[in-house]
Amino acid sequence: MNKFYITTPIYYVNSHPHLGHLYTTLVADTVARYKRQRGFETFFLTGTDEHGLNIERAAEKNGIPVQQHVDNIVNEFKTAFAPYGLTNDHWIRTTDDYHKRGVQELWRRAKENGYIYKGEYEGLYCANCNEFYTESEAKVGEDGTLNCPQHERPLDRVAEESYFFKLSEFQERLIGLYEKNPNFIRPETRRNEVLSFVRGGLNDLSISRVSVKWGIPVPDDPKHTMYVWFDALSNYITAIGFGGFKNDWQFGGEEHFKKNWPADLQLVGKDILRFHTVYWPAFLIAAGIETPKTVFAHGMWLSGGRKMSKTLGNVIDLAVLQKHFTTDAVRYFCLREMVFGQDGDFTYEALLERVNAGLANGLGNLASRTLTMVGRYCDGVVPGPGQASAELTERADEVRAAVTQAVEQFDREFDEYNFSRALEAAWSAIERVDKFISDAKPWDLAKHADQRGALELVLHTATETLRHLTVLLAPVLPNATQEIWEQLGEAGKVDEIAPNTLRWGQSTGKRIGEVKPIFPKLDKKKVMDEIKQEEAASQAARTEENKEQPIQAQVAAQAPAAAQTVSEPADAPAYITIDDFAKVELRVGQILTAERIPKADKLLRFTIDLGEAEPRQILAGIAQYYEPEKLIGRKVIVVANLAPRKMRGLESQGMILAASVGEEGRPVLAGFLEEAPNGAKLK
Ligand code: MSP
Repeated sequence: MNKFYITTPIYYVNSHPHLGHLYTTLVADTVARYKRQRGFETFFLTGTDEHGLNIERAAEKNGIPVQQHVDNIVNEFKTAFAPYGLTNDHWIRTTDDYHKRGVQELWRRAKENGYIYKGEYEGLYCANCNEFYTESEAKVGEDGTLNCPQHERPLDRVAEESYFFKLSEFQERLIGLYEKNPNFIRPETRRNEVLSFVRGGLNDLSISRVSVKWGIPVPDDPKHTMYVWFDALSNYITAIGFGGFKNDWQFGGEEHFKKNWPADLQLVGKDILRFHTVYWPAFLIAAGIETPKTVFAHGMWLSGGRKMSKTLGNVIDLAVLQKHFTTDAVRYFCLREMVFGQDGDFTYEALLERVNAGLANGLGNLASRTLTMVGRYCDGVVPGPGQASAELTERADEVRAAVTQAVEQFDREFDEYNFSRALEAAWSAIERVDKFISDAKPWDLAKHADQRGALELVLHTATETLRHLTVLLAPVLPNATQEIWEQLGEAGKVDEIAPNTLRWGQSTGKRIGEVKPIFPKLDKKKVMDEIKQEEAASQAARTEENKEQPIQAQVAAQAPAAAQTVSEPADAPAYITIDDFAKVELRVGQILTAERIPKADKLLRFTIDLGEAEPRQILAGIAQYYEPEKLIGRKVIVVANLAPRKMRGLESQGMILAASVGEEGRPVLAGFLEEAPNGAKLK
């Protein structure tokens, strides 16, 4: 039997679950159901990422032990996901013991193979404040000694240990991997993005921290805690038994791992593409483990034109969603509305539209009109194909051919992860049979005894179409299709029937079940009014919560307001205080992509990694002086808390610093001579 192993990212437990998290999980669930229905022995994994400094801090802020804090949020995720009947075979938590041991095993193997070494972070150290300082932060004494700016005592020149991963040795191997396996990164645009990033050169990666305690200890050196991404990415192998530490699988630990690895499909949002396509394969290769077959990066749900995020306060609340829409409706919308791989705008209006058009008027209406007529005109027993005119018989044959074609097309698109196109194919069959029914008017045929054969042919064709589509759509609409299945008078679980085992005509003679509406039509205005009220209430609750945000998030959130404060009087001194300077958040960034903007001679569009969950889009007016391709991989300095602004319809989420040289103000990008990690703050 063929196996299929599918994963989602594991979600951070420093924020509450929202539609973005649910989305990836629903897609994975649908693919898992699809594969199972087609006979694949499928393993579907999701879970939570529970280590790291910010989680430690969040717990501290709430005044509860970290483990209790993570347990609470994990429960919140599980409760929010529960109504969707997800079929994940396991929920991994990075605080699980077998995971910790598995990650340590991965580390050991990479180290034994010579890819992990102990290095040093060099810096100036004040033993009184236990802090590192850079030379520019130090206060220079009269005799030239470098002193602590707080204590004004000489600083020690010390080095802090850190383990490093030899990522720099993987450039060729990774390029080889991408070139040999064009399906390793999908879609193609993402593959090109990663290729150009890796071609720009890779630096070794610091993979341990001595200052972070909430994490997995480095084997044989427990004062070091592993870098969270080394820990988190490993979940995909530890969950299925890598190292043999998870022995409670009915199949056995390591054996289960060997059977399932490599993963067939790792779904991620494009925000975490690089971690999964650069670091992850490099860690695996270093430990002598096969790389996954495909990492597919989907786009982001935007809300009000921006990525849904808790900080922006534009997340779609799962409670509001669940109150008004069935879980099947949400699944259908997610798969139908978003072109998989591209960003999509989430609006409740679009959701209502899709539910009413596609589900209530489309599939729901086909089911209820067909089954009601079988009940009314055929005593509830599905008729065989009656004798009818040559013309009607031809029309019925065309419907049958269209269904066969739609079923094949659905699978072809689904296998390529083109979910919206797969659904379009299924709905084309619904439109086809709807027209057939409306043209043939079975309600009129029923009035004439000599038209009995024609009536039976129409209802037989409609019922068969419905039956085939019900089986086909089971992975997407698990609840509704089971209900229709039972109304069709069929026994058993619809999702256990492989579409290719169905034969046209098998429904003849079946007694149908009780006919009930499947997708009631929603009153758009009423639902929208209710949603608006609920959203306003939850927005107010969020604002309250944000008041208690960690300091750093507050600075960013307040930045636009700070920029509007009254200007200084003309005679104010030219100095600013250190507090004024501290308002500007300067960070190290690395350019991931750079491109020209059509019809804008001066602007370049960048995506820049600031060590955040997802890269930022930043625009800069340097196109006349720099070639975008040459900037990829370069480290720059970014003003990270500048209020976002739109240029040429694109939002710039920060500013790159450059010297302005000569009369024409030629920009010269600021950078670093030594290695500076992405996201590091400039002080
Ligand atoms: N913990 C890391 C992932 C580690 S995987 C080894 C993380 N967690 S996260 O909670 O921030 O989740 C990110 C993922 O959630 C995205 O990659 C995507 O799958 C999903 N989404 C979060 N917001 C989303 C949208 N607005 N739209 C679509 N998916 C979104 O990163």
